[in-house]
Amino acid sequence: MDENSAVTGLAEKTVNKIEELAGTYPGYRRAHAKGELYEAIFTPTGEAVQYTVAAHLTDTEVKTIVRFSNVYPNPSVPDALSVVKGMSVQFQYPSGDIANLIGVTIPIFVTKSPATFFEILNTVNSVKDGRPHFKDMVELFTKFPESRAAFQMIRKLENTKSYATGRYYTMHAFYLVNEKGLRTPVKFEWEPEAGIETLSAKELATLPSSYLAKELNERLETGEVRFRLHIVLGETGDPTDDPTKEWPKERKRIEAGVLRLKSKVNVADDHFIFDPTVLAQGIECSDDEILLFRKDAYAISYNRRRKGE
Ligand code: HEM
Repeated sequence: MDENSAVTGLAEKTVNKIEELAGTYPGYRRAHAKGELYEAIFTPTGEAVQYTVAAHLTDTEVKTIVRFSNVYPNPSVPDALSVVKGMSVQFQYPSGDIANLIGVTIPIFVTKSPATFFEILNTVNSVKDGRPHFKDMVELFTKFPESRAAFQMIRKLENTKSYATGRYYTMHAFYLVNEKGLRTPVKFEWEPEAGIETLSAKELATLPSSYLAKELNERLETGEVRFRLHIVLGETGDPTDDPTKEWPKERKRIEAGVLRLKSKVNVADDHFIFDPTVLAQGIECSDDEILLFRKDAYAISYNRRRKGE
């Protein structure tokens, strides 16, 4: 078996395993099933021009589609149980080309290896009602030391008050490539202009199951929702292949542009696949195996859900 078919084989096994653990919900994504789509505009500041030739990050305002989501494969899990949230952004060039940028509300992942991710899923018995059970969590903690930092972070994470008040991290490193071919390792973060706001457990208990979509739709009736795209510049020695590790907090960052959310898109029009490896000229994938693995896993999930499975 060549390397590519081995990766696809593992991606298929992984998606099958997610279905086995969480159930199958026809037509829904195999992860991040519950979500809302919005139209938005992204305007670059020009600050990234010395690092990349990517037009949307330098001089071209582009339309974008944004999808906010809960993490679970079961679309009925209440927002309050999905403490990590997703923000997927697709930049749409006038030429028809697209570039994706997918973030979540924690900066690190549970492993740097797709095979270990499968092993982690194998250790869990069920996630049908949301989180893994406590006993499974204890076993994960003992068996997978590289995952501890992410699990601890998830345990301490508070639910966001609004999709508009979360900070979203792409986790993986990418390379920006400029006119001279110079490659700079970077990570991306979406900083909410409304500030970071979270809810206490007591406040959460009073809210409806889908409070996040309702809140964001009401917020958009009275004005725009904005996020600033921060690019964190990596330095020599910062790992580019390990999404379990954060880069030092003091790394220089630039503000590449502003995203302005406009209006909700009818979910019936959801033909989108936010493959994180689909990038514009001037942005390249790093050597992070998880990033590259996601391409196949997302395609498998997409094919199944588009067939109504
Ligand atoms: C082994 C690693 C991973 C696997 C197997 C995996 C699997 C999946 C699958 C199957 C989907 C549904 C795709 C679709 O039907 O379009 C999905 C969606 C998503 N994943 Fe992952 N994922 C992984 C890592 C990550 C990481 C590191 C992030 C952090 C940024 C992430 C964030 C998301 C988000 C935000 C979505 C929703 C995309 C959308 O809005 O359409 N995933 N994931």
